[in-house]
Amino acid sequence: MDTLRWQAGTLFLLDQTKLPFEEIYLPCHSWQDVRQAISVLAVRGAPAIGVAAAYAVVLAARTLCQKGGDTPFLTDLETICRDLDAARPTAVNLHWALTQMMACARQHEADGAEATTAALEEKAVAIHKADIAINTAMARFGADELEKISRPLTLLTHCNAGALATAGVGTALGVIRELHRRGQVSMVYADETRPLLQGARLTAFELMADHIPVTLITDNMAAWTLKTKGVDAIIVGADRIAANGDTANKIGTYGLSLMARELDIPLYIAAPASTFDLSIADGSQIPIEERNHDEVRSFRGAAAALPETPVFNPAFDVTPHENIRAIVTEQGIIHRPDAISVPAFFQH
Ligand code: MRU
Repeated sequence: MDTLRWQAGTLFLLDQTKLPFEEIYLPCHSWQDVRQAISVLAVRGAPAIGVAAAYAVVLAARTLCQKGGDTPFLTDLETICRDLDAARPTAVNLHWALTQMMACARQHEADGAEATTAALEEKAVAIHKADIAINTAMARFGADELEKISRPLTLLTHCNAGALATAGVGTALGVIRELHRRGQVSMVYADETRPLLQGARLTAFELMADHIPVTLITDNMAAWTLKTKGVDAIIVGADRIAANGDTANKIGTYGLSLMARELDIPLYIAAPASTFDLSIADGSQIPIEERNHDEVRSFRGAAAALPETPVFNPAFDVTPHENIRAIVTEQGIIHRPDAISVPAFFQH
């Protein structure tokens, strides 16, 4: 089952709003289709959003080519990229992929719109393929690192940082998959991850499909699970990591990091280089996406609260770097991330 597939000029996205009950692919024929899919979380998870956005730029370029028009091709493409970028403000992989695509467009500008569109398609396919390889490299580095704590391991994860959040085996779940392949996973506790239940609907589903032992818990069971179930480590993904290692990830991760610190359980982040935003010094500058209040007041159309109930619905929170034991990347491990170790890691 692929999270996304590029076939004969159409992007097919596995509709994650329907999982795990229905496996339906959404055909995206235009960049607006992709934008809509990103907004409603039909495709979600920072790396997967980046890959989808890259293909959205190809679809946009193709339309601009066919349409012609008075404004220059590149100006129109830039406007579309800005619109796509706004679809999910926290996940920096989206911005990263769009920046890559625009750089490619500029590089081929002199060749004309059609040649640029062909180059953009090649670039999107390259970003897609690279994500697969990045996940595999990260999985090996992460498994080597976690095996140092205990063999086998009991782990806890939050949200979905799996194959469904990427084009490959996943970030945090990629590490777990590799540990399982080595026979080193006793149990994975998966937080259900309110309000949209990525843990229950996606992580539990993914791990069960791969016969990896998983136990689903509600988010408010995490502290007790960590205290009583012999959890060796927590491993999660990330949506944006500042230059000092402060990490934005699905709402609830910050709370987990406080529990982990209190209980002396190491917290690991698994994220590709494209999730780092070295232009910001710390997590206070990470934009936090706030989503529709109905996501909290209801689920799948069933009311959970009165419709007029006031709600706060941040989709992400920021875990301070002091609470993170290490960040696993495709280039290796950043131990005890901080304002010195993170920039130094990317300078080599
Ligand atoms: O709102 P979502 O489902 O896109 O949030 C996803 C997460 O927070 C993931 O943990 C993160 O993107 C890393 S995915 C490899």
